Amino acid sequence: MRDSLTREKIWAELPTRWVGNEYQFFPVIDSTNRFLKESLANEGSTRLPHGSVMVTDFQAQGRGRMARRWLAPAGSSVLMSLLLRPNWPVERGMWLTMMAGLAVVDAISAETGIQPALKWPNDVVVAQDGTWRKLCGILVEAELDAQQRIASGIVGIGINVNISAEMLPEAATPATSLQVVCGRPIARRPLLLALLQAFERRYDAAERGQSPHAEWAARLMTIGQPVRVSAVGGQLMVEGTAVGVSAEGQLLVEQADGRVEAVSVGDVTLREVDFSEG
Ligand code: BTN
Repeated sequence: MRDSLTREKIWAELPTRWVGNEYQFFPVIDSTNRFLKESLANEGSTRLPHGSVMVTDFQAQGRGRMARRWLAPAGSSVLMSLLLRPNWPVERGMWLTMMAGLAVVDAISAETGIQPALKWPNDVVVAQDGTWRKLCGILVEAELDAQQRIASGIVGIGINVNISAEMLPEAATPATSLQVVCGRPIARRPLLLALLQAFERRYDAAERGQSPHAEWAARLMTIGQPVRVSAVGGQLMVEGTAVGVSAEGQLLVEQADGRVEAVSVGDVTLREVDFSEG
């Protein structure tokens, strides 16, 4: 199986122009997002270029959203972080998240034929046995400069690829893997190459001013569902029906009294499963 993700193997087949021209592979690391964050903080003579990609087979301290951990057995998954230097206005803050989710959907569809959905703001999910299950998590960490422009963005992506049902981690949204969904092992290298290519294509389109918003919104299974949105500590922020997303990517939740709340960050729990909108 084409499963090794070393630089030599990736560069031999890399279909991109600029994403991955700087590529580092770590058999083991604490966290690829943490690595890039520290590189940015300690920039001196060595400055990682726009489009740098860090990939690992195992993270000892993989980081998830909302201060959670991200767990994946060694060699089972696609675990990567991409460094971008967009210099975009802050209003485009969610574009990296939107493009990353869509690029993961592109790559998974191309390599496996399954059509995943997105769960606001940035989970990639698939319907399995009457439940929405998470295939991939995305953690975007961006920094603004003094002019309030997006100076850097670290896009961390973890796709559950070859994890058996018994080895799937416990998570707020129940997890699944491509192997479980497809019923066969999936080669990681073609999936990673397709992901890098899809991301580059979407980023180039964004540079030309094309917003990913409409496509992202159309993929969100959250819209139309009854939801509870909670903060990091688990406390309820808002409860109601997700009726849409704003231009900036906030989730619009209509409460029982008809008021609509726009939520920027939070963890969405679907109150009931309703596949009719999915
Ligand atoms: C989530 O909570 O859903 C986001 C998970 C993001 C995990 C990826 S794995 C590669 C990268 N490095 C990290 O430490 N986290 C991200």
